Parts: sequence; structure tokens; C-alpha cells
Amino acid sequence: MTILEVLDVHKVYDTSGSRVQALNGVSMTLEAGSFTAIMGSSGSGKSTLMHLIGGLTRPSAGAIRVEGQDLSRMSDRRRTIFRRRRLGIIFQEYNLLPTLSARENVLLPWLIDGRTSGDAERRADEMLALVHLQQRVGHRPDALSGGEQQRVAIARALLNDPAIILADEPTGNLDSRQSLEIWKLLQALARQSGKTILMVTHEAAGAAFADRVVVLKDGRVVGELAPQGGGDAALVAAGYQELAG
Ligand SMILES: Nc1ncnc2c1ncn2[C@@H]1O[C@H](COP(=O)(O)OP(=O)(O)OP(=O)(O)O)[C@@H](O)[C@H]1O
Ligand SMILES: [Mg+2]
Repeated sequence: MTILEVLDVHKVYDTSGSRVQALNGVSMTLEAGSFTAIMGSSGSGKSTLMHLIGGLTRPSAGAIRVEGQDLSRMSDRRRTIFRRRRLGIIFQEYNLLPTLSARENVLLPWLIDGRTSGDAERRADEMLALVHLQQRVGHRPDALSGGEQQRVAIARALLNDPAIILADEPTGNLDSRQSLEIWKLLQALARQSGKTILMVTHEAAGAAFADRVVVLKDGRVVGELAPQGGGDAALVAAGYQELAG
């Protein structure tokens, strides 16, 4: 089943006299339960694409359909509500509140909405178990490693059972061992829990855990690789070099 359709999307940034064409006709689809990576050099439009799919901004032209609903045609208000309900977004920074426990940080989206029943806590604990942090539910961020903090952020992104998890360089602040844990976790979330995952990464070693790698260059898709989760970083690095180099 197709869960995301990006159709001929353009994005132009107009800032004080300078005009940047960040995306120039990008199309791609995601199947439910797949793990897809996006690679491309700095400035190729990766974060712009993630922001558009995440409903944080609107395309200049083209359509973005999540579960058949076109984000580009929604009002800002509806898109915000849709994002909060149907999309899970993770950034390089973990964005955890330092005074809250892991469980409270996972529950934060619901706490803001005033949903604080015992059921909610059970849900938070289930999500923390999915990211292998069942032994850390009471820990504050400063008592967790960077990799563990990012796993709390992933658990929080999973809270609403979103259509898609969007991760923009989720391992950008992590060492190689912790990065490997995150990539394996994202792969397992797709394969074992049926989550749909889209991850931007600079690292071939991470992209190799994805089923597919979409390569961007100058705001366009220039090709695709299919490591099929095999973890062969050298193969991805060589394929990427050929497409984007
Ligand atoms: N808010 C903005 N206003 C104006 N220009 C922007 C804005 N955001 C991004 N750009 C420009 O759009 C282009 C694409 O930026 P984007 O952040 O999508 O790249 P990226 O592939 O994520 O790069 P990186 O790997 O460095 O994160 C760049 O030329 C950038 O300078
Ligand atoms: Mg970026």
C-alpha cells in the first residue's frame, strides 16, 4: 500500500532579494512498512523535502499526499493538526525537556493536549519498550546517553502511531556505535512493527540499513539504490558516488 506520494514538488525560497530553488520537480512514493533513506550533498534539498512531507512548510508547486490526503491543499491550521496526529518527526537534536522523565517526555504531546490517564502512561511505556528503554522510564535526559535520548525521541514520535516517521539526520550527534543502534532500531521498527520510515543521512553505513536510498542533487532526484537493508556500506557509498559525485 502506498502511504506517501510526492508529485512533482517544487520549493522556492524567496528571501530579501535572493531566490533559491531548493526543490525542482521531486517525485517519490513510499510503501507502508518500508524504510527509505535520502542522501545528497549539503544544500541538495533533503531537509526542505522533509519539512514539506512533515507539513512544516508548503510546496511552491506540486502535491504531497499522506494516506491520500494532500498536505499542499490544507490550510495551515489543518496541516498542523494533521502533522500532530499523523506524522512523527525526529531531528538531529533530541528536543527533550530536561526536567521531565523519559516517560513524561514520550507523553509530552498528550500532556499538552491534557491526556494524562493511566492508559496514556501504559502507552508511553510500551513505546519505550519498543526502543528497548523499558529499564529507563524514570530517567531524566541528563541520566541517559545520547543514543538513549534519541531513542526517547523516537518513542515520542511513535506515540500517535503515525503514518510516517520522518528522521532528519537522527544520528548527526552520535558516535558510530550509537548510530549503529539507531539504524538497526529503525530497520526493526519497519520490519517487525510495520512502521514506515524516511531518514535523511550523510552516512552510507546508515543508508545501507534502508530498503531503498533516494539520491538528491540540486533539488532533483538523480537516482535510487536498493541495498535492501543488507548493511553493505561500501556498495551504497560507491552507488552514491556514481549518482551524486
Ligand atoms: N528557510 C530558508 N530560506 C531560504 N533558503 C533556504 C531555507 N532553507 C533552506 N534554504 C536553501 O535551500 C537549499 C536546500 O537546503 P536544505 O536545508 O534543504 O539542504 P540539505 O540537503 O538539508 O543540506 P544539509 O545536508 O546541509 O542539511 C540550500 O541552498 C539552502 O541554503
Ligand atoms: Mg539538512
